[in-house]
Amino acid sequence: DTNGPLAGKRVLVTAGPTVEPIDPVRYIANRSSGKQGYAIAAALRNLGAEVILVTGPTHEHIPAGVETVRVDTAREMMTASQNALPVDCAVCCAAVADYRPAIETTHKIKKERGGLTDLPLTENPDILKTIAQLKEGRPQLVVGFAAETDDVLGHAEAKMARKGCDWIVANDVSPGANCAMGGTRNTVILITEKGDETWPEMSKDEVARGLAERIAQAISKPTIV
Ligand code: PMT
Repeated sequence: DTNGPLAGKRVLVTAGPTVEPIDPVRYIANRSSGKQGYAIAAALRNLGAEVILVTGPTHEHIPAGVETVRVDTAREMMTASQNALPVDCAVCCAAVADYRPAIETTHKIKKERGGLTDLPLTENPDILKTIAQLKEGRPQLVVGFAAETDDVLGHAEAKMARKGCDWIVANDVSPGANCAMGGTRNTVILITEKGDETWPEMSKDEVARGLAERIAQAISKPTIV
């Protein structure tokens, strides 16, 4: 919708997991399905935004009208996200692996040669933090997600401060019937500069529509000179 409230706005959305190779046949990954991030990309597009979706491997369908860049690793996701800049808003919904194997071997690690009993890891770049702390060309609104299993609000607030994003969407990823990671429903706490709001449990599409509307309210206001 070119007449929507986000017409003329460019938004970056990261989604899905990253996969970090150990050797040519093995990797480290997580249970993110990409559903929440894809739904956000579609909802922002429906409000008129030009959306660039940077996604790790998922089985989700690419939303219509959304420019998509597929990546595997956190480092690739970082490069693709930086290439998408400048944007008016960035929504980092991807479950980026915090660590990757320190050494990536080009040959399959053989059990007979000592195997995989010790796997040194090294830290991955932080996409959200990098974008939120840009000195030049920082998006007007930077939205992070926080996947937590306990003290969801406390940990999310600390994460927001540490990363320097404007808003954070906290969700509980404790295992269970309605686990946010991999499932179809989500219960979120939206933390903005005005405080925190707990939303009732709803589908990921509904979370996406609600968040897109809030983003539109925050960034679509015409600038009064
Ligand atoms: O994909 P689904 O199955 O639909 O599940 C959705 C979800 C649970 C994955 C999603 O709603 C969610 O919570 N995404 C963030 C998951 C996560 O990795 O959270 P975190 O608390 O580890 O990271 C905090 C924030 O920093 C996130 O915005 C994350 O995208 C970002 N980050 C983290 C590490 C890193 N190296 N780079 C980042 O950009």
